Amino acid sequence: MKEYQKKYTLSNGVEIPKIGFGTWQVKNGEEAYQSVALALKNGYIHIDTALAYGNEESVGKAIKDAKIAREDIFVTTKLPAEIKTYEEAEKAFLTSIKNLDLDYIDLYLIHAPWPWSDMGKDCKEGNVKIYKVLEKYYKLGKIKAIGVSNFSPDDLQNIIDNCEIVPQVNQIGYFIGMDQHETIEYCRAKSIFIEAYSPLGIGYLLANEDIKIVAEKYDVSSAQICLRYILQKGVVALPKSTHEFRIIQNSELDFEILEDDMNFLDTIKGDPRRWE
Ligand code: A2P
Repeated sequence: MKEYQKKYTLSNGVEIPKIGFGTWQVKNGEEAYQSVALALKNGYIHIDTALAYGNEESVGKAIKDAKIAREDIFVTTKLPAEIKTYEEAEKAFLTSIKNLDLDYIDLYLIHAPWPWSDMGKDCKEGNVKIYKVLEKYYKLGKIKAIGVSNFSPDDLQNIIDNCEIVPQVNQIGYFIGMDQHETIEYCRAKSIFIEAYSPLGIGYLLANEDIKIVAEKYDVSSAQICLRYILQKGVVALPKSTHEFRIIQNSELDFEILEDDMNFLDTIKGDPRRWE
């Protein structure tokens, strides 16, 4: 088995493949269908989508058409950040499961603690309400693992204090330069597993000269260094690409970055992402 297909174990015993194929900004229809189909054809066994991406139907169709046994594929989707009531959350979950045409979801996450149009807003009460929907369907076996995304330690503590099940996952923006120290320390202490979205800094990290130097040394691409770095931190990485050669390249991670080079990569600081 290749490194990217190997699995970590979540606090509830559910196994999660180390690399998930990301689908943010991948358009519903041909683009989402083709990129997920290419990923599955090339051996990916973990797909990450969200109701808010608008591509669940195409993602679900690509999964169905790949004819992979359900238990051999790990599918994540997310409850839209704007939804903060129980009724709407339940409706959204049922919509996702229908869009994907699956009997169960492997991992279901609250997409963010606040609406994207009002980042930082205190939605603690609402988050507790909607988390109870996750708990309900988890107990019914319709979700195998539950969690959150973009949650700070404070947002997580609110869930832990007011709900029954400690989230099993927190999916955050994590890549070389963006060490998320405080959140990661908190999550480790509570056995909340970290997933890294934007592992290539939405592509901008690939222009970094220091990463290029390390990539040359190992005779791999900068993208492979970025992904391997995340795996060596014990974190799931969720790269995405719409090009087959990159989809394949992003799965070739069977090499080891030496400790000195990991330490060097740790010295890189800053967020290269540009939000045009
Ligand atoms: P494309 O879809 O044209 O291949 P992130 O996963 O951090 O959000 O980064 C995604 C971006 O990085 C996409 O624009 C994608 O472009 C690009 N990308 C993904 N994999 C690679 C790679 N191996 N080499 C170069 N660019 C990549």
